[in-house]
Amino acid sequence: EAEEEALRQRIREQLQARNAVLIAHYYTSPVIQALAEETGGFIGDSLEMARFGARHPAQTLVVAGVRFMGETAKILSPEKRVLMPTLEATCSLDIGCDISSFSHFCDQHPDHTVVVYANTSAAVKARADWVVTSSIALQVVSHLHEQGKKILWAPDKHLGDYICRTTGAEMLMWDGACIVHEEFKAKGILDLKKIHPTAAVLVHPESPASVVELADVAGSTSQLLKAAGELPNDTFIVATDRGIFYKMQQQNSHKRFMEAPTAGNGATCRSCAHCPWMAMNSLERLVTSLEQGSNEIQVEPELIRQALIPLQRMLDFPK
Ligand code: 13P
Ligand code: SF4
Repeated sequence: EAEEEALRQRIREQLQARNAVLIAHYYTSPVIQALAEETGGFIGDSLEMARFGARHPAQTLVVAGVRFMGETAKILSPEKRVLMPTLEATCSLDIGCDISSFSHFCDQHPDHTVVVYANTSAAVKARADWVVTSSIALQVVSHLHEQGKKILWAPDKHLGDYICRTTGAEMLMWDGACIVHEEFKAKGILDLKKIHPTAAVLVHPESPASVVELADVAGSTSQLLKAAGELPNDTFIVATDRGIFYKMQQQNSHKRFMEAPTAGNGATCRSCAHCPWMAMNSLERLVTSLEQGSNEIQVEPELIRQALIPLQRMLDFPK
């Protein structure tokens, strides 16, 4: 405890001394989220993190999350320094969508509007017409569908399927998935609902269709957090990374939140429901990055120029 407090103190001092602000995702550890709040930083979903970083006047943005979030921050604020606790924190969606195969896929379908999920590399974003996060994907695709556009979607097939079912848009799909959300099981949730019949089910749409079908609310991390506060239920089954429980429980102390099962028999393994890359954001790594100025995100100026166009379209899209 004393050791942890010493680390926290060094981080507070560094943030001040370097005119830096800490921006954390809901899936990072409670200690990192609490520090972001306490130091005037921010906790949010990936869209809100991008907006906050772009608007904040600090000269250095410290992004606790995964690499694509740091890259997005850099693309939106190339004049700022963007640090991360580790540059190794990636995402299975990003890994599964390399620029050369993706570019080839786009070249084969020149009549399609290319919409990519934010969980991608800067190079993939640079090849896209639109970038979207889970909180705005439905609105953007329905808008494009209304204009009669055919969509090429990448990389998350589950989120893509969900958008396709909901909007009726014509969509060509890349075959990618999130290793965390893909593990949630409909059978496990149904079994848990038998025990807790009044429970509401909250689902991040990176989960398989059979799980999204059971959702009372499907949406981004921030949208799920909002639903946890607004729905009258006293119990919730939550199909997303367990990092979200920190804020859910804090904001709704009288409600009960349970992890959605990742096995049909109702069990949840320890390594499931938690993103291994988000878990790499430790206090030790955060303090080292700040003190040494290490793990700075670098994106080539030409990529920044190209990727900014579809990202800015998303930020300018009326909510
Ligand atoms: P959100 O945009 O909902 O925060 O999701 C990001 C993510 O990586 C979910 O797994
Ligand atoms: Fe990527 Fe899934 Fe981790 Fe989110 S939870 S960063 S989608 S691997």
